[in-house]
Amino acid sequence: MELSKSTRNNIGMPLIGFGTYQLSINQAELGVKEALKAGFRHIDSAEGYNNEEGTGKGIKAAGVSRDDIFVTTKLFPGYKQWGAPEKNYKQTVEMLKNQLQDLQLDYVDLYLIHAPLAELRLEQWRAFIELKKSGLTKHIGVANYNEERINEILNTGMDKPEANQIEFHPLCAQIDLSRFMRKNSISPIAYSSLAPLSTWRSEAGQGGEVLADLKKECQLVTREIATKLKVSEAQVLLRWGLQHGYSVLTRSSKPEHIRKNLDVFNFVISDNDMERLNRLNQNQAFAWAANGLNPMEVAPSLK
Ligand SMILES: NC(=O)c1ccc[n+]([C@@H]2O[C@H](COP(=O)([O-])OP(=O)(O)OC[C@H]3O[C@@H](n4cnc5c(N)ncnc54)[C@H](OP(=O)(O)O)[C@@H]3O)[C@@H](O)[C@H]2O)c1
Repeated sequence: MELSKSTRNNIGMPLIGFGTYQLSINQAELGVKEALKAGFRHIDSAEGYNNEEGTGKGIKAAGVSRDDIFVTTKLFPGYKQWGAPEKNYKQTVEMLKNQLQDLQLDYVDLYLIHAPLAELRLEQWRAFIELKKSGLTKHIGVANYNEERINEILNTGMDKPEANQIEFHPLCAQIDLSRFMRKNSISPIAYSSLAPLSTWRSEAGQGGEVLADLKKECQLVTREIATKLKVSEAQVLLRWGLQHGYSVLTRSSKPEHIRKNLDVFNFVISDNDMERLNRLNQNQAFAWAANGLNPMEVAPSLK
């Protein structure tokens, strides 16, 4: 299938989205506005980013019709290990209502459980089904769910997640999980596509230095392919995700990066170069490493 800026996946999600993690409220406002003006039509937000007020202002300021934008946000489920109480059914329903107020929206397009960190995750999922019925979200899904966690939901007979947002780049290629999601028609969404780059989260306190030694070879191969295709290394990594059938997210605080990262539909990575990137897989996640955990591996037993 030919990919273009206007291509949408089977839940109507544009294939590239602007993420808002690690942006202040002010940066989120400016970044989201810039991204929508540049042509992004998909915004990824979360309760846990503490900036939804800015994201909402940015959406409003851009003046793009609501129908043309796909907005995702996430529930922080609670995590006892961090002293964060787990949300029950009622609190889950209330949380989306609060988030919609901050976002200044009547509905979101996709609501995700941010990670399977709560014993109450099936109760939270039941609330998600209710939120979809009530129209406050068009679609429901999960993030950081492995096959076992998704099966917990499928085994109950409840509606299945329509999407799963996971870390995905050549060093974390999610081969078995991608196959499982394809088989179950669960839309894959990639986050932290740029984790292999030396510029990823490189500002003080962002945590990009953690495990940086594991990235060297990937950086060399990505650079070589980028030079050959006359594009940036970031464009190569985003395009790699798209060619694997994923929707990809990217965030930047810099207008020039925001504009450039959207330009991933005018070139193709050859099968041979895709294969070279595929061979770099280490099943290594980086995005949550600075917090000392891999969110796919820490689920407590179900209550
Ligand atoms: N569900 C989850 O658990 C989860 C986890 C992580 C992320 N996410 C979502 O996915 C989004 C994307 O992940 P991410 O935040 O890790 O974003 P990313 O796009 O993979 O990486 C962002 C980092 O790369 C740099 N960067 C961006 N464009 C660049 C370019 N063209 N050249 C060089 N460096 C560039 C940025 O710095 P500058 O600001 O300097 O450009 C920033 O440090 C998040 O914002 C969030 O919405 C979800």
